[in-house]
Parts: sequence; structure tokens; C-alpha cells
Amino acid sequence: MKGSFLGLALALAGSSQAYLRFGCATLTVQRLDPLVEPGKVPSSHLHQVVGGNTFNATMDPKVDVGQKGTCTTCTFSEDFSNYWTAVMYFKARNGTYKRVPQYPNALLGDLKGGITVYYLQQDFSSNGNQKITAFKPGFRMTVGTPTSKDGTNPGLRYTCLQDVMTRFPETAEFPKKPCPAGIMAIHHFPACWDGKNLDSPDHQSHMYNTNQGGFIPAAACPASHPVRVPQVAYETMWDTAQFNSPDIWPQDGSQPFVWSYEDSVGFGTHGDYLFGWKGDALQRAMDSKSLLSNGIATQSVAQANKCTIPNTVNEEIDGWLESLPGRKMDM
Ligand SMILES: *[C@@H]1O[C@H](CO)[C@@H](O)[C@H](O)[C@H]1NC(C)=O
Ligand SMILES: *[C@@H]1O[C@H](CO)[C@@H](O)[C@H](O)[C@H]1NC(C)=O
Repeated sequence: MKGSFLGLALALAGSSQAYLRFGCATLTVQRLDPLVEPGKVPSSHLHQVVGGNTFNATMDPKVDVGQKGTCTTCTFSEDFSNYWTAVMYFKARNGTYKRVPQYPNALLGDLKGGITVYYLQQDFSSNGNQKITAFKPGFRMTVGTPTSKDGTNPGLRYTCLQDVMTRFPETAEFPKKPCPAGIMAIHHFPACWDGKNLDSPDHQSHMYNTNQGGFIPAAACPASHPVRVPQVAYETMWDTAQFNSPDIWPQDGSQPFVWSYEDSVGFGTHGDYLFGWKGDALQRAMDSKSLLSNGIATQSVAQANKCTIPNTVNEEIDGWLESLPGRKMDM
């Protein structure tokens, strides 16, 4: 399996170099949410977080984490950004929950869990010949909303993995049948910035979404949000295989997976991004036509796996749980 991951990485690198695609191991799995609930320990639901070790409950936008970070779980060692999503659980017939593990990262088989991160200039085969402006220190954004009741953002999708190479079809809801090689959760962020605000009260309105889904080039940016920034995307491979036996699936025909904020449909899927590349490393990458020879520093998988942060919440998140972390109903 590891062989085919590496084969894919090399094949893509050979044919096109107009984007960054790299793995980041798990940094922490905790109830912290510095964008939506800054300072709150614990936050309302569980997240899986990758990237730099400055991550904590507050993340003051005045702190340049690219300068402050001392280690990162990403393969690019100058990337102290943080990337996070909710966590997937399996709900058993008896009503208890079990955390779904993540695949070792798709690019480098030995990374612990984590997310595959993309920064696209335009698409897989071109830089689009347009200026891509890197994010500034303090920049952050979210995509998706836990309370969303529709699946209209084409950048928020699931793929039912028949094997690790499956990429189509994408669905807006959790797959309705067992997926032999797991479920890939996909988050594409908007790539048009208003050019002024590092954040906004809803963490979204400083950005504008012209994504057309998948890795299709995004449409032109509107006058309100004229600055083209890298198109950031996450892929998280959830290893659902151990929960695929038909005799543990719900008898009513529904599917058993649920996000940590208690969403068993999947429309509320969301991702959070906090920029933290050191100095001008990301800008250099985006200005480069050949991303593999632009001098961006990398580190070994072993070094990436070693980076971690303390657990400040300290609660049970594994084992068979009677309720999702933080979601206990008052009786
Ligand atoms: C987070 O880190 C900053 C320094 O980067 C520190 O000032 C702050 O107290 C920390 N917050 C928490 C909740 O640990
Ligand atoms: C609930 O179901 C799971 C999966 O079948 C099982 O492992 C667990 O022990 C059960 N828990 C209780 C309290 O019955």
C-alpha cells in the first residue's frame, strides 16, 4: 500500500509542479477551537489538528507563528501553519461511539494520521500565469459551518474509497454504503481575498469562494475580493474499514458515521486554516514555476512525527463512549 502512495506522489511530481502537496502528521486531537471559540478550554467539539507547535486555545492574531514555532508535523519544515477539522466517530447499534482512526498520510505512508494539504496556484498542471499572493502573518479562515443543512459548496465533499486511489465520485453527504478503503473527507477553501482583513467576525466574509469543485481551476475573483491567494485544500483519509461489517451497521438502513459535532448527514463538514509559514517561504513557492526546486526546506517523516503539544483538555476520546466528547445530554 505504501508503495502505491509513493508511486502516486512521484507520478504527479513528474508531470506537473504547479502546486504544493504535502503530508502533515497529527499534532493533537483535543477540544480546542482557537478561531471559533478562542480561549475556551474545552471547546464544544473535538478537532484533529496538524501543523506547528504554537497551536493553543487562543492563537492571538498579533503573534507571527511562522517566527515563533519550533517544530511542525508537516513535511515542509518552515510551515508552522495549523490545519484542522472535526473528528469522525462510528456510532454502534447500542448507541456508543468509537473514534475512527486516520490513515497514515497518503503521500508518505509513515506519517502518523494527519491531513494531506494542497496549495494550488491554479490546478495540477498549470500555475495559471497569474500572481498568487501568499497569506500574511495573522491570516485565518474557515470553510463550511457545522449547522449547514445543505451540501451546496462544491468544495466540501466525501469520497467512498474503493481503494486508496479512488477519487470519484464525490458526494455532499457521508457515503451510504460501507467503503472498503475508508472515507476521504475533502475541504477546499476559497481563494479570493478582500486584500485587507486577516480575519472577519464569521471567519469567512473576508474571503470569496469561486471554487467549482474538485481541483478544477476556480473562476475569476470579484471586485469585492480581488486578491488571488493560494487555493488551500485538505484531504483526510478516515480508516472506516474496521466498522464495515453489515451486522454492526444500523438496521434502519442509515449509515453509522458521525462527526464530533453530532452530524450524521455530513453537510456540516468544516475546516479551519491559520497561516504560519516562516518569512516569505510560501510566497517563494507560489512565485515558482517549478515547486520542487524552489529551495523550500523539508524534514524527515520521523522529525514530523516527533512534533507534538501537551493535552490541556484531558478527557477520554477513545474507547466506546456513551456520548461524543463535550456532547453529553442533560438527563
Ligand atoms: C497561547 O500561547 C500564547 C503565546 O503564544 C500565550 O500568550 C497564551 O497564554 C496561550 N494561551 C493558552 C490558553 O494557553
Ligand atoms: C456497544 O457496541 C460495541 C460494538 O458492537 C461493543 O464493542 C461495546 O462493548 C458495546 N457496549 C456496550 C455498553 O454494550
